[in-house]
Parts: sequence; C-alpha cells; structure tokens
Amino acid sequence: MRTPFIAGNWKMYKTIAASREFAIKFRELHRRNDVKVAVFAPYPQIPVLVEMFKDTSIGVGAQNVHFEKEGAFTGEISASMLKEIGAQYCIIGHSERRQYFGETDKSVNLKLKALLAENILPVVCVGENLDEREGGIEEKIVEMQIRAVFEGISMNDAIKVTVAYEPVWAIGTGRTASPEQADKMCGYIRKILRDIYNKDIAEQITIQYGGSVKPDNAAEIMSMPEIDGALVGGASLDPLKFIEIVNF
Ligand code: PGA
Repeated sequence: MRTPFIAGNWKMYKTIAASREFAIKFRELHRRNDVKVAVFAPYPQIPVLVEMFKDTSIGVGAQNVHFEKEGAFTGEISASMLKEIGAQYCIIGHSERRQYFGETDKSVNLKLKALLAENILPVVCVGENLDEREGGIEEKIVEMQIRAVFEGISMNDAIKVTVAYEPVWAIGTGRTASPEQADKMCGYIRKILRDIYNKDIAEQITIQYGGSVKPDNAAEIMSMPEIDGALVGGASLDPLKFIEIVNF
C-alpha cells in the first residue's frame, strides 16, 4: 500500500523570515500522520526549515541539483552538499527547469543517479505541453520521458523515486487536468514502470499529480485510484491552504 505524499514546491518564493513564519504556523496545524508531507524550498531556506521541522514528520527538499559530485560548475550545488544541509528530498526535471534552464531527460537521468547515490529521495517531474496534449501525443511524450529518466536505475532504487505527473498547461494556470485525465496518465505511467521493471515494483512507486492543485480540488484528485499524492505550487505558500490540502 502506497502512503499518500503531498509536496509543496515553493519555487523562488519566500525569504528565510517568511519561511520561519510558515514553519511556525504549519507545525502548529499539522496533525496528520497517515500522509507524507514535504516542502521544497530555495537552497538558503533548507537548513532553517530542517531545524524547525526536526521533531516533526514534515520533510524538507530542494528543487534542483547538479549531477556531478564537485567541480568547476559555477552556481551549481551537488547532491552531497544538499545532504550536508539536511535535505531529504529533491525535485528534478520540473517543467520550469526544462523550459528556462535547458533541463533534458538526459540531465534528469544523471541527476536522479546523483541523488540516489547520496540517499536523497527524488521527485521526478514529467508532463506534456499544450500542443502535445492537443496533438494527442501526450502519452507518447510522457512515455519517452519516463523511459529516458529511469534508464539504468535498478529496481531497488526505482522504488525510492516519486514521479510527479505535471501537465505543463496546468501549472500555475488555474487550469487543472480533470481528475480522470490525471488518473489516466498516472495509470499509464504505472503501466510503463511495470513494463520497465515488473508489477511489484510499479505498484510500490508513488505517483503524484501536479498542476493547480488547490484546497477545493485536492480531495477529488486524491480519491483517484492511480494518484498517490500531489505536487502543489502556488497553494503550498500559504500554510492554511497547504494544510487543507494535506488534510484532503
Ligand atoms: P501550481 O504549480 O500548483 O502553482 O500549478 C505546480 C508545480 O509547478 O509544481
């Protein structure tokens, strides 16, 4: 049985002071132990949040990592550096990184390996854009992404990965995929994972939906059989909204 996993992607929002305020409020409100919860913050906020959530079950993660261990890569941060500041999770392959920072399936695959080598739990984002959805090739696109990203990942490691299906046209647009559309793609992703690994492995992998998840649509999304969680952007910035989603 997969544990539901609600993740908040803060993107490039919140100062350290604002992160502290969030943490104080959210800790107070958070009661639910049957759901995994984590916030994915900008790098400088990570150690602060790790400290503030240390006696709770609330996880803390980063939003990107470099795949090399170290080197002359100005501006980059390695998986071991994330480990050192206490990050338990890391998002990779988010569509904003693919769109604005040249992230490719190949680099996501290398990043996945780098995170697994440091025992950081990866959240791998995949998803089609609007043209691809309208062209009816969304399954083909997502299948290519999944196959490329999981290339060379062992069964033991695959079960540590969370996949986030985020249709690009639903991110930050207020336009959510219908629960049926989201469920269908999450089911398709599980089918590909079954094909790459086997049924047992595929059944253990957590698959989230992301894209305009809000307090008023979280319950319906979470009720879908193939959807195990949500990757929440905008609505994760407000502790009152985020707790409502966690309490779906
Ligand atoms: P959104 O973002 O919830 O604001 O649509 C989701 C994401 O980018 O992960």
